[in-house]
Amino acid sequence: MRNTKLSRSVEGKVVLVTGAASGMGRATALLFADEGALVAACDRDASIDEVGAAIASVGKKGRAFRLDVSDRAAVERVVGEVVAEYGGLDILVNNAGISRRTPVDAENFEDLWNETLLVDLTAMTYTIRAALPHLRKSESPRIVNIASTEGIGATPGISPYTAAKHGVVGLTKSLAVELGREGITVNCICPGPIRTGMTQAIPEEQKLQYAKRRTALGRYGDPEEVAQMTLSLTLPAASFLTGAIIPVDGGLTIRRA
Ligand code: NAI
Repeated sequence: MRNTKLSRSVEGKVVLVTGAASGMGRATALLFADEGALVAACDRDASIDEVGAAIASVGKKGRAFRLDVSDRAAVERVVGEVVAEYGGLDILVNNAGISRRTPVDAENFEDLWNETLLVDLTAMTYTIRAALPHLRKSESPRIVNIASTEGIGATPGISPYTAAKHGVVGLTKSLAVELGREGITVNCICPGPIRTGMTQAIPEEQKLQYAKRRTALGRYGDPEEVAQMTLSLTLPAASFLTGAIIPVDGGLTIRRA
């Protein structure tokens, strides 16, 4: 017996995570599986198979799907496969992303702009549009988009990334108000500096200096610390939270000195 009614469990929920071969996506897929969800771990990289194997190795449910999110037809096909295999779709985590450093006057700027906008922003509309008919049938439909602190502020030399991440924030707010009446929540996480594939080329000393100077906690975050927030946003109990833009950044966005 309980005195409260909202569930804090994702057990049996079907979740699709993009960019799940590495970093935060990998941590998210593994966490959902540990919590009893049925996980479709999607990535364009072949190493996604290792994530499927890790899920199976602890007796949890889910598997790997090869998927390039910038290929709209492939997104539609994989969403169809996931629904056919698991009987529906409750949670979509749009996590796949790339970051390309390029000054605005670089010769290949336009190529990098187009690539970044496609993968980091436009592709989210592919997954959301493909998932929507199935989310509409869920009891607690949830969408979580992974932006960045670059969706709130800006660092020089990565304007395609910063613009795309600001776009993710806008898309989140827009769809939260558009889909809210249907009970579909759409929220956004803005991670700060996290130890993942995206940041692994940054030397350790530089990472430490940056984190000490810029964050409140004085350190980089671990992928699971973001995954745990993603999970929280998708709980049936998170039913009145939508359109939220949540920094998981060790205090980076609030620190002034
Ligand atoms: P990561 O590089 O470790 O993982 C990204 C994954 O996305 C990789 O497995 C990659 O193969 C996959 N991916 C890239 N393009 C894809 C595509 N077209 N289709 C399918 N999969 C694709 O990086 P990380 O850091 O875990 O990135 C996850 C998300 O977090 C990204 O959206 C990134 O922009 C965001 N982020 C990362 C921060 C960090 O400090 N690492 C900070 C803020 C945001």
